[in-house]
Amino acid sequence: MNLLSFYKIYYRHRIVKANIFLKFYLFIILPIRYLLNLPFFPKRINLDIYSKKNQYLFQKDLNYLFEFFNSDKGNFYIDQYIQPIKKTSLKINAHGYSPFYEKYFVLKKEEKINILELGSFYGNASASLYYYFKNSKIYSGDVLPDLFRYKSIRIKNFLIDTSSEISITQNLLNLDRNYDIIIEDASHSLKDQIISLFLLFKKINPNGLFICEELDFPETRKDMNPNNEYPDLKTILLNIKNKKDFNSKYIKQEDKIYFLENFKNIELYKGKYNEVAIIEKK
Ligand SMILES: C[S@@+](CC[C@H](N)C(=O)[O-])C[C@H]1O[C@@H](n2cnc3c(N)ncnc32)[C@H](O)[C@@H]1O
Repeated sequence: MNLLSFYKIYYRHRIVKANIFLKFYLFIILPIRYLLNLPFFPKRINLDIYSKKNQYLFQKDLNYLFEFFNSDKGNFYIDQYIQPIKKTSLKINAHGYSPFYEKYFVLKKEEKINILELGSFYGNASASLYYYFKNSKIYSGDVLPDLFRYKSIRIKNFLIDTSSEISITQNLLNLDRNYDIIIEDASHSLKDQIISLFLLFKKINPNGLFICEELDFPETRKDMNPNNEYPDLKTILLNIKNKKDFNSKYIKQEDKIYFLENFKNIELYKGKYNEVAIIEKK
């Protein structure tokens, strides 16, 4: 993690709100805190080497792997979002999405598939998917790609900003590559959830899946929909399920038609705290 990412994750939101004196203080302690955290940043792991000594992980179920690699998609995890120096060994509740995912993923477990995760943070979910789908290639995008801590010939991490149509186009739409599973776990804000699904649905292979995590954030968290925009992605998906029309300034007519003609099924699930949408393609 470089200093700029450290600032963006742990200090930017505080500095924005702070008065001039507090701003000054925060800017002074920022590099000191960064240096103090340096020894505690997670080390890079080469999974191709690691897996030689840990073959048993290839036999494990999804929840075991999410918990083993400490992704917040499993039942429990150690808070990975606090400053590394403050990390304890205390396991806390995570999202609990594994049973929903396992139901769909088990059908593709042995296949040679491409998986895209948007919003990878340290890459803990990507590492889990590396073991669950042992024949897969995993593409892990994040606006802060320097956070990523895994290496493998089957994993590629890259920079993407899912709030920007230009970034999505340059880094995904323009590439000659499709995906069997896309997991969108990036900013969770209203516009980004909508554009990610409707721009990227055409990049999903037949019978593929698009997953949108924390679907309810724009409805339940003010910071995910600061301008009270409507409709959010959850409302759009419920309208589609109920065969009702919808309109959003973030969806082009051609992308709307493509989605409506090519989706097979939409399910919404409630994890321990938040909702997740799993969309199957025809
Ligand atoms: C909830 S974390 C992801 C956790 C990870 N998927 C896991 O299972 O361990 C969200 C990530 O999304 C990234 N992110 C936030 N806004 C983004 C954006 N606009 N584009 C891409 N990534 C973004 C953050 O940097 C962060 O790493």
